[in-house]
Amino acid sequence: MSRKYVIAANWKMNMTPSETAGFLDAFLKNFPDPTAVEIVIAPPFVSLAKASELMAGQSAVGLSAQNMSHEASGAFTGETSAAMLKEVGCQYVILGHSERRSLYGEDDVVINKKVHATLAAGLIPILCIGESLEERDGGQLEFVLSQQLEGSLLGIDASQMPGIIIAYEPVWAIGTGRTATPEQAQETQCYVRSVLERLFGADVAAAVRIQYGGSVKPGNAGELIAQPDIDGFLVGGASLDPASFADIVKAGI
Ligand code: 13P
Repeated sequence: MSRKYVIAANWKMNMTPSETAGFLDAFLKNFPDPTAVEIVIAPPFVSLAKASELMAGQSAVGLSAQNMSHEASGAFTGETSAAMLKEVGCQYVILGHSERRSLYGEDDVVINKKVHATLAAGLIPILCIGESLEERDGGQLEFVLSQQLEGSLLGIDASQMPGIIIAYEPVWAIGTGRTATPEQAQETQCYVRSVLERLFGADVAAAVRIQYGGSVKPGNAGELIAQPDIDGFLVGGASLDPASFADIVKAGI
C-alpha cells in the first residue's frame, strides 16, 4: 500500500506572528512541488491566525497546532479547544510530544482523551511516541512504545486509524544533533507498525503513516526517508529556516 509522505514543521516555542509571516513569505514563494508530499506547519498558538491568513487560497500546506485541550470549553485557564483551532484554520494537532510528556506531565491517559477529542472535531492528530536513552539502553524500547500506543489509542476504532498520524521521536535524538541511524529508525518504526497490526489488523497497519522525528536535517533526510517504514518527518530545529525545511521536503519528492 502506498502511503503519502507527510512532512511537518514543529516550531515549538519559536516564531512570533511577524516571524511566521517572514517564513511563509519565503517558503511559499520557493515552494517544492507538493504533489507527492503533504506539508504541515505547526506554529505556536499566537501565530496560527497569521499563518492561516497567509496560507489562504493554497491547499498545499496544512496548518497544525502543537497541543489541544480535550475539554470543549469552560474554566480551563491557558487551554485551547478544538473549536478554537478549527476556527483559525487548523487541520492537524500534534499530541503527546515528549516535551509535553516530560515537562508538563502529560501521560497516556490525558493524551488518549485528546486523541478522541481531536478525531471527534474532525482534526488529524499527529500522535508522538518515543523512548528515552535510559529506556532504550535498558532493553525497554518495545515495552515503552507498545505501552504508549496502547494507552494513547485506547478506545480508538480501527476505522479511525487511517485518520491518525504517528510520529516516532526517540527522546535522545530530539534537539541533540544525534539522529537515529536509518537502520535504527527503520527497525523501530517496523516494530511500531507491528504493534498497530496487533491492535488494529494488517490493513490498518499498512495504511497508517509513521513519521520519524529527532535531529532531521537536509543532510540526513534522504537516507531516512528511503527506509520503507518511514513515511515522513516531524522536524524541529531545521524547520525554522525556510530553505532548510524546503530541502527536507524535497527529500520526500
Ligand atoms: P529536532 O528536529 O530539533 O531534533 O526536534 C524534533 C522534534 O521534537 C519535532 O517534534
